[in-house]
Amino acid sequence: MRLGLDFKFVFSYGLAKVLWIFNKEEGRIYMETIVMRQPDDFHCHLREGEILKFVAPFTAGIFGRGLAMGNLARPITTAYDAVRYYREIVRACGSSRFKPIMSIMLTKKTNPNIIGDAGKRGIKTLKLIPGNTSTNSEDGISLWDIERSYLNLAAAQSVNMVFSIHCELLSDESGNAIPEEERESKAISFLDQLITFLPKLKIVIEHASTRDMIDYVKRAPENVAATLTLHHATLTRDDVYEMDGSIISHNYCKPIAKTADDREAVIEAMMSGNPKFFFGSDSAPHLESAKMRFPPAAGIFTAPVVLPALCDLFERRESLGRLEDFVSRFGSEFYGLPLNSGTIEIRKREWIAPEYIGGIKVFLGGTRFGWRVDSPIGLA
Ligand code: DOR
Ligand code: ZN
Ligand code: ZN
Repeated sequence: MRLGLDFKFVFSYGLAKVLWIFNKEEGRIYMETIVMRQPDDFHCHLREGEILKFVAPFTAGIFGRGLAMGNLARPITTAYDAVRYYREIVRACGSSRFKPIMSIMLTKKTNPNIIGDAGKRGIKTLKLIPGNTSTNSEDGISLWDIERSYLNLAAAQSVNMVFSIHCELLSDESGNAIPEEERESKAISFLDQLITFLPKLKIVIEHASTRDMIDYVKRAPENVAATLTLHHATLTRDDVYEMDGSIISHNYCKPIAKTADDREAVIEAMMSGNPKFFFGSDSAPHLESAKMRFPPAAGIFTAPVVLPALCDLFERRESLGRLEDFVSRFGSEFYGLPLNSGTIEIRKREWIAPEYIGGIKVFLGGTRFGWRVDSPIGLA
C-alpha cells in the first residue's frame, strides 16, 4: 500500500477509535488500527513459581489489571497469602505496570474475620470453586453446603467484596455424579436462594457457558453479573470429544464447552452491550504432561491470543464498536474500580499464533489472525 496516495479517517465509538485508510490507487478503504482504552482481564490463572514467570507477561503485556485466581496447589485463603502472591506476580511482570486484583478462596476453613481482614487489605474477591469441580478445588465447599457459608458471604457483602463463583454442581442430592454438560444449568437453583438471603452481595458467575445461565444472569438483579471467555465463544462439545468419546485434551476446560446454541448465547451476550457481561479470560495454562494424563487437567491457555481473537470475532459479527465496553469498561464498573486511563493499539496485521509457548499449548495456536496487538512482549 502506498501511503502517499492514501488518506486516513477515524470512526469513534466512545474512547475507542478505528482508523481507516482510503487507498486512492486501489479505490478501497482499509481498517488500519483500533485505539481503545486498555482492557482488564477479570479472571485469570497466573499460577506460581516458574510457570508464573513464564505466563504472566502475556497477560501483563496487554491488560491493565487482571483478577488473579487463588487456586494454587496450596490455595490462597487469607489476606496474608494474597499479599505474598501479589508480590510474586508483580515481580514476575517485570517492568510492566500491570496491577493484579487479588482474591481469596472460600473453603471450609474460611471465617468472617478472615474476610473482614481481606476486605480491609484491598482484596476484592471471594472465590468459590466447589469441591473437586476444577483445578486445585479439593478444599472448596459444595453448593449443597452453601448455606453454611452465608455468614462468610454476609461478611463479604459488608466489606464490599465480590463473590465470584465457578458455578457447577458436581453431584445430585443422592451423591450421583451429574454429567459435565449439565453441571452449570443444575447449579442455577442455588443462586435464587443466595440472592434472596443476601440481596446486596455482588455476585459474578464466572465463565458462563450455557444459554440457561446467561438468561438467568440477564433477569437477575443488577448486582449479579457474569464473565465470558473467548474459548466458550469458540468451542462446542464437538471440539472436546472425538467420535469415540475420547477427550481432545487441549480443548478440555471446566465448565466444558457445550452446544452451538450455548456458544451462540455466549457470543450474543458478549456483543449485547449489556453491562452485566464482561471479559474474564479464564486463561488457565497447564504443562503438557498434565494435559496428556487421564483425565487431562482442565484449562486452556488463551492469554497469548485472546485480544486478536476477540477482534476477529467482533469484526466478523460487525460488532467492533461493542468490544471496548466488553473488555475495558463493564468489568471495572461492576467492581467499582476506576477505568484504565491508558490506551492500547491493535493493528490490522496478519500474524500466526505459535502452537506452543514454553511447552504449553496455546489456544488457537497456528491460526492466522487478522489483528495484532503490539504488546511489549512482541509476540508476533
Ligand atoms: O478449566 C478450568 N481451569 N476451569 C477452572 O475453573 C479452573 C482452571 C484452572 O485453574 O486450571
Ligand atoms: Zn472456574
Ligand atoms: Zn478459572
